Amino acid sequence: MVYESIPRTVRILLLGEPGVGKTSLILSLVTEEFTEHVPPKAEEITIPADVTPEQVPTNIIDICVAEQTIEQVAEEIERAHVICIVFSVDRQDTLNKVASYWLPFVRENCSDEYRKPVILVGNKIDLIDYSVIDNIWDIAEEYPEVDRCIECSAKSLINVSEMFYNAQKAVLHPINPIYCIEEQE
Ligand code: GTP
Repeated sequence: MVYESIPRTVRILLLGEPGVGKTSLILSLVTEEFTEHVPPKAEEITIPADVTPEQVPTNIIDICVAEQTIEQVAEEIERAHVICIVFSVDRQDTLNKVASYWLPFVRENCSDEYRKPVILVGNKIDLIDYSVIDNIWDIAEEYPEVDRCIECSAKSLINVSEMFYNAQKAVLHPINPIYCIEEQE
């Protein structure tokens, strides 16, 4: 039996359609305030171990499909320990793309034996007064690598640190033990 070892740093990658708020989530986490105008892509951020709940240094990586090639995004998936796929709760098309594009794309770039944990993140809950979580269960059932789902708002600073903490936990304390079983002779 081969266990996927627990890494000593956690590398969190944010994916999702343009405009869903990936960069805003990262900057809201770091600055603890919402900035209306953010760059297309945040610089890679390293959060030191002593300020993370799990005491593990954590790197956070943004993507911007307008500025990166598909190969560069695929490479980031290979390097990541956990992937947060962000959609905007007020735009059904961005949730549709989670199942039709992003989850299959992540799978294509992970090995069959070890699927990296995925967190589904519904951002911009400040814009609606209902929950969309019920629309996600079917997706989570079809893709068991979906470890957790969370709704948040980069603007109202709701569940932003929780989202990144959940991503850390998915790597360090997986709900479904992630291992690959080699056939016994
Ligand atoms: P790309 O760089 O194109 O991939 O977009 P992105 O996913 O990084 O989104 P970005 O952070 O640039 O945000 C897009 C727009 O949504 C900006 O105008 C943000 O101010 C806005 N936005 C981000 N998060 C929230 C949120 O929680 N609530 C609201 N109301 N607006 C948000």
